[in-house]
Amino acid sequence: MLKSQIFALSSIEIAILIALTIPTLWALFSAPFVPTPMKAVRKMLKLANIKEGDKIYDLGCGDGRLVHAASKEYKANAVGFELSPLIFAIAKFLQPFWRSKAKIKFRNFHSQDISDANVVVCYLMPGTLQKMLDKFKTLKKGTRIISYSFKIPGLKLIHEEPRIREQNICPIWVYEI
Ligand SMILES: C[S@@+](CC[C@H](N)C(=O)[O-])C[C@H]1O[C@@H](n2cnc3c(N)ncnc32)[C@H](O)[C@@H]1O
Repeated sequence: MLKSQIFALSSIEIAILIALTIPTLWALFSAPFVPTPMKAVRKMLKLANIKEGDKIYDLGCGDGRLVHAASKEYKANAVGFELSPLIFAIAKFLQPFWRSKAKIKFRNFHSQDISDANVVVCYLMPGTLQKMLDKFKTLKKGTRIISYSFKIPGLKLIHEEPRIREQNICPIWVYEI
């Protein structure tokens, strides 16, 4: 039944299906969408020591909560990249409710230039963080990288915020280039 339905699709429909499925699976395996609790978002941004106008990137921004909070509460120039089409659509839908100036882009962060970053935030799987290591190392001196939950071995750790079990908050790791 399913097989005959798939064969009944036009080539345009198949192309759309592939175009939606590939980035969804890629994003899912790099880091599935699990939003950071807002309490942890506020902690991460505080630890990032953001100044007005700082460039901040969220690699895999999910619904955009980190970039919106950074833009509204710290007046940062915040950009989030999201590859999963469904999550990106949710983020775009929610954007007007935040009333922030943050930008959310439908992009694979692996292929983005983030060399102007002052702050990078991420909540990614250890294997994905490992793949980003070389790029992180080329960032400007003084750039802060704030990782939620997972460590980034190979970077200079400047602060570790311990897990708070009762509030369901994972550790926060702060690095400086
Ligand atoms: C654990 S969630 C974190 C979401 C958000 N940063 C937060 O803290 O609430 C990771 C997000 O990264 C996205 N993602 C995974 N790989 C990606 C890639 N290569 N490019 C862009 N986004 C990606 C996933 O779709 C998911 O929404």
